[in-house]
Amino acid sequence: MNVKEVKKIAVLGSGAMGHGIAQVCAAAGFEVTIRDIKQEFLDKGLDKIRESLGILSGKGKITKDEAAGTLGRIKTATDIKEAVRGAHIVIEAIPEIMDLKKTIFKEVSDNVPEDTVLATNTSTMSITEIGSVVRNPSRFAGMHFFNPPNRMRLVEVIFGRETSGETVDLLYEITKIIKKIPVRVLKDRPGFIVNRINGPVQPLLSAILDEGKIKPDAIDAVQKKLGMPMGVFELLDYVGLDIVYHGMKYYEKTLSPEYRPGRYLDERMEKKELGMKTGRGIYDWSSGKALIDMTLETSEITPGDFIAVILNEAVKVFKEGIAESAQDIDQAQVAGMNALAGPFALASGMDPGSLSSSLDKLSKRYGLSILKPEPEIADGSFKKMLKK
Ligand SMILES: NC(=O)c1ccc[n+]([C@@H]2O[C@H](COP(=O)([O-])OP(=O)(O)OC[C@H]3O[C@@H](n4cnc5c(N)ncnc54)[C@H](O)[C@@H]3O)[C@@H](O)[C@H]2O)c1
Repeated sequence: MNVKEVKKIAVLGSGAMGHGIAQVCAAAGFEVTIRDIKQEFLDKGLDKIRESLGILSGKGKITKDEAAGTLGRIKTATDIKEAVRGAHIVIEAIPEIMDLKKTIFKEVSDNVPEDTVLATNTSTMSITEIGSVVRNPSRFAGMHFFNPPNRMRLVEVIFGRETSGETVDLLYEITKIIKKIPVRVLKDRPGFIVNRINGPVQPLLSAILDEGKIKPDAIDAVQKKLGMPMGVFELLDYVGLDIVYHGMKYYEKTLSPEYRPGRYLDERMEKKELGMKTGRGIYDWSSGKALIDMTLETSEITPGDFIAVILNEAVKVFKEGIAESAQDIDQAQVAGMNALAGPFALASGMDPGSLSSSLDKLSKRYGLSILKPEPEIADGSFKKMLKK
């Protein structure tokens, strides 16, 4: 299918991700139908879209006519056949349950032509496995938006084992039309690019909490004084310790047993102290903001250590051929994490010896072999990756 032929997009699920995906597609001029299992869920999704468009027009970022046009292009349906009828692309954003996703794609596949492009917004599951239930899995791919989709710019467009280059190319072009930044993910591996390269930070933070010698405030305060919008621990609380916990369990199974959440996180899960949303997690959030003691500071773990950790995993992603280039990895980190620069660019002016000794230090102190420096860090050849 040619990108110009795409007029109608069906979005399955009107939750946190689905309503935002529907909004950005409709804002770009596509006719959109959102499908959920109950009308009340669809109405809630529509309310959130209305609210977001109201904020955008209030700030003068879009006109009132544009807001009305976007809303006018969105329909809702509880009936799946009605939702996907005539759709050129179907984007799924229903709960992260493999059987549920397979059931819905089987149903979708039975009700659309063989060339309708089908995409899943899964953040953790195998694209190949979900796509295995559809007729013609070559038109099936991952389309991983970041939360909230109306603000975050990155979309990872992911190949499953059967996905054709044409399918990924089409979704890549559509991503640009909806004013997002697409990055191709060439292999269906856990965490894709952004969640994978940031993944090792979590077992590190979990180990720091379990060791209990360095206060999270001391690490976060240094980062915030350097201008980072949030400290690393604050971010865990913001995302939700339950989400972090389940993500680590998933990586424990798929990447390394060292991702197993530690004692501290186990306890927070038991006490349901999950961060911002429960008013308490690593920090006290009862005032709506994390109560961080900004007078503390440590030099035992530095912002440079975190750059080394993310760079090290980025080098692995590069060597495994998951991304097309080191530039793409950097771009994904900037657009997916609101980072000022990606790991390759950040480390390009840094001394390989100190990056490597950061990783050795952390790996030994916390018993994490996943943090051992890749050879390309120690010898500085990671710097050539950016030029390839
Ligand atoms: N929330 C995030 O930060 C985030 C980020 C990236 C990707 N994702 C992925 O996006 C997907 C959706 O996540 P979410 O946070 O929007 O979940 P959510 O729970 O907020 O929304 C899911 C919606 O799907 C609906 N639903 C359930 N079964 C359905 C069906 N058979 N047909 C249509 N709708 C159905 C639910 O009623 C609900 O409204 C998941 O795969 C998740 O991993 C989430």
